[in-house]
Amino acid sequence: MKILSIETSCDETAIALLDINGPLERPNIKILGNSLFSQVAIHEQYGGVYPMLAKREHQKNLPVLLEKTLKEAQIDTQCPPIDFIAVTAGPGLEPALWTGITFAEELGERWKKPVVPVNHMEGHIFSVLYGLAKDNPLRLPALALLVSGGHTELVHIKDFDQYEIIGHTVDDAVGEAFDKVARMLGLPYPGGPKISALAEKSRFRIKDLGFKFPRPMIHSGNLNFSFSGLKTAVLYKLRAENRDDDEFKENMARAFEDAAIDVLVKKTQTAIESLEGKIHTLIVGGGVAANAYLNQKLNDFIKDFPEITLCLPERPLTTDNAVMIGIAAYVNITTNPTLLNNTNKIVANGNLKVSSR
Ligand code: KG4
Ligand code: ZN
Repeated sequence: MKILSIETSCDETAIALLDINGPLERPNIKILGNSLFSQVAIHEQYGGVYPMLAKREHQKNLPVLLEKTLKEAQIDTQCPPIDFIAVTAGPGLEPALWTGITFAEELGERWKKPVVPVNHMEGHIFSVLYGLAKDNPLRLPALALLVSGGHTELVHIKDFDQYEIIGHTVDDAVGEAFDKVARMLGLPYPGGPKISALAEKSRFRIKDLGFKFPRPMIHSGNLNFSFSGLKTAVLYKLRAENRDDDEFKENMARAFEDAAIDVLVKKTQTAIESLEGKIHTLIVGGGVAANAYLNQKLNDFIKDFPEITLCLPERPLTTDNAVMIGIAAYVNITTNPTLLNNTNKIVANGNLKVSSR
């Protein structure tokens, strides 16, 4: 099945052409073409993503990326032999989502191909299907820890079309907290990778920092997260100490990362325990899944659960991309083939939630 997929939910414009076949547990995924343009340098000066600017950039980039992707796949650019087009319909920034949807629907009309809406978070979940070893199919039920700039969620995946959100952030997303703390430390957007690099330097230099930031909601008795108080604790500490030397910044980055990752791992562990042996796989998806310290801590704690396989996406598939949207579309179409007959206009939904179909 050949799928052209389009992603424009935030500040990455991305188009991929995939050839996917086989069982959902371990599909055979060939990336025939894949182009991505990151607007990070454009939004850097605003310290975050500016929606109307993102929309304008997507509009400019989409035709260029389409041509690049089809050329890379070496297929006819006038009437490509694809089965359908997949496009992110939410969650994300609505002006940005609409550019992808409008572009996809125009292509669908021109090429006489169906257009299928995809939930961006399902993209992050099923990004792990790419690169699975032959003897290592994805085993469900699974728990997904979704950690990105806009989301922090624990999702119980009972089947390929049966999901339940069992925990979520009540304020900032964890990636957002990384970005905000980075800004306080004078680091450019996106802050996650920069905080992580500073924190590593501090860990290498000293064993014990001698102080800790609070772990918000760690004992709340539910599976929800909160990162806004942690961000404020960092701000107060910065004001109180009034230092801006490298060593101090590295220690702050580390203390923040220790607290944020500790909460993510602890809540994931509580979720696994609350699901009482039903889980076979722990999936981690979204930009923060690239965090080295989170990876290390998850690898450590999962050793206590030998029946559970930890599944992380390949590094380029952690942050937003169109490959994951094509994969999620394949899952959607395989579980519900009637989606291909849908003739309703697709509507962007900035707050779209993962839900069972
Ligand atoms: O999934 P993503 O590309 O976009 C959203 O859907 O939000 O995630 C972007 C987020 C940003 O907040 C960025 O700072 C964070 O992922 N991020 C990281 C790392 N790499 C990206 N956070 C912590 N450590 C990293 N290595
Ligand atoms: Zn994302």
